[in-house]
Amino acid sequence: MIYLDNAASTQIHEDVINSMLPFFKEQYGNPSSIHRYGRQSRKAIEKARKQIAQLINAEPSEILITSGGTESNTTVLHGLTSKSSKGKIITSSIEHDAILEPCKKLEKYGVVVEYLPVNDSGIVEPSSLEQKISDDTTLVSIMFANNEIGTIQPISEFAKISHSHQVPFHTDAVQAIGKVPIDVKAMNVDFLSISSHKLNGPKGVGALYIRKGLEIDPVILGGGQEHGLRSGTENVASIVGFGKACEIAKTNLDSNMSKMLSLRDDLIQKVTDEIPEVTVNGDLKSRLPNNAHFTFLGVNGEDLIIKLDEHGIAASTGSACSVNTQKASHVLQAMGFSHEQITGSLRLTIGIFNSQDDIDRTVISLKQIVKELRDVSPFKDKYSF
Ligand SMILES: Cc1ncc(COP(=O)(O)O)c(C=O)c1O
Repeated sequence: MIYLDNAASTQIHEDVINSMLPFFKEQYGNPSSIHRYGRQSRKAIEKARKQIAQLINAEPSEILITSGGTESNTTVLHGLTSKSSKGKIITSSIEHDAILEPCKKLEKYGVVVEYLPVNDSGIVEPSSLEQKISDDTTLVSIMFANNEIGTIQPISEFAKISHSHQVPFHTDAVQAIGKVPIDVKAMNVDFLSISSHKLNGPKGVGALYIRKGLEIDPVILGGGQEHGLRSGTENVASIVGFGKACEIAKTNLDSNMSKMLSLRDDLIQKVTDEIPEVTVNGDLKSRLPNNAHFTFLGVNGEDLIIKLDEHGIAASTGSACSVNTQKASHVLQAMGFSHEQITGSLRLTIGIFNSQDDIDRTVISLKQIVKELRDVSPFKDKYSF
């Protein structure tokens, strides 16, 4: 199999698995226990917190460990809104559902939510934030990198505009972590969500960076773990694995980035050279190094995924983190794509374990499959393929 769906999830690194194993076997103590089993688990969590913090240039005390990107986003959206008497959130129209759905719920409670548009390259213009931000804004939340088209947003500029109005700024960096450098201090963000399974760590664990001095209301209440911000016995093995994944990602960031970029650019070049009537979607410069997103006119993306799977290639039409995959992409809709363009879309996302051979074999399969599907397409007469 060739796995090109790394935006959905990634293969766990062997060293990450090995780091986790003792916590399933001998070191099973509850980190809140006073005895040595408990102390071992507590120590392991604090080591992981440090490894997570180091990847984004934060202090360990600024890291709240959660169950993943979804919980981190909900924690900041609900945690800040219930604390504030002000009532407006500004976000973008291309966020992941892990932002859009909690926003919809908050709207039902009377919170006003503004959705900033994107240009046709999938970038949110900072001027649109300038226009919407006002004294009653509680939070600005704009994603670091988009999960479908991989576009990277001008995060530092959004943080600057937000702060000039004394409004905190959050970014969902789930797709960016481990793919590009993230420095919370240099970017001056207040809150940042990350997830372990996007950087070769285990699923069901992530973190929310909370800048020192800022407060949120806890969403999950109980035994007071994570300084009262997220109760519940810690998932020690997964937290340890997440920490290890962050350490490995930090060590290899530069080499991983250049490897993914070179494979991705080669893939885009070959696909656009060898297949007619194909477009590459989203800004090509301000973009994650591992994301290639295409539209093949006259082809149904889901048929393409099934055929690619038959050829041993795992791909996606867009967001696999949404249970309802039949839904037309709100990201491409926001970019002004027609129904036909959205239908013909394919996302290929490269990971650290992919090789040049994977790319070459994918191009050969893709060329053959697109031709086969177009030969039976109802749109056949409309195009020159
Ligand atoms: C941008 C973005 N935010 C949030 C999430 C949800 O993260 P998790 O699966 O860790 O809950 C995803 C998952 O793909 C994502 O791509």
